[in-house]
Amino acid sequence: MAIRNIVKNGDEILRKVCRTQMAFDDRLACILDDMAETMYAADGVGLAAPQVGILRRYCVIDIGEGIIELVNPVIEEISGKQLGQEGCLSFPGEYADVERPNKVTVRAQDRHGNNIKITGEGLLARALCHEIDHLDGIVYKDRVKK
Ligand code: NI
Repeated sequence: MAIRNIVKNGDEILRKVCRTQMAFDDRLACILDDMAETMYAADGVGLAAPQVGILRRYCVIDIGEGIIELVNPVIEEISGKQLGQEGCLSFPGEYADVERPNKVTVRAQDRHGNNIKITGEGLLARALCHEIDHLDGIVYKDRVKK
């Protein structure tokens, strides 16, 4: 495993729409391992592939309950609202209040290509929305109410 460089605000990679991940191979497994290591080293709760310079649809999340890997995630259901402080490893030292759904259900694949489904509330719902936004070139600052 290796720690990768995190792409910072201003890099246009963060603004690209990522492509579907088709191959469930050793390369994907290696990058997911590296992304987890990179996220933990930076003390973050989530990291999306474009943040390590890869324009593919996958991300890792750990809100303190263990690693979650999502490949080709799609938000299937949302409910409720929450307003809370959010940050991003691509915007070091910055935080802002962002409104998110309080509960989300996401359909995705795991690193082997198996279909998975995850429902998160509170912080996990926030992390799921934040990371999936990254895959569409959206950063949390776009969601801050002016
Ligand atoms: Ni982020």
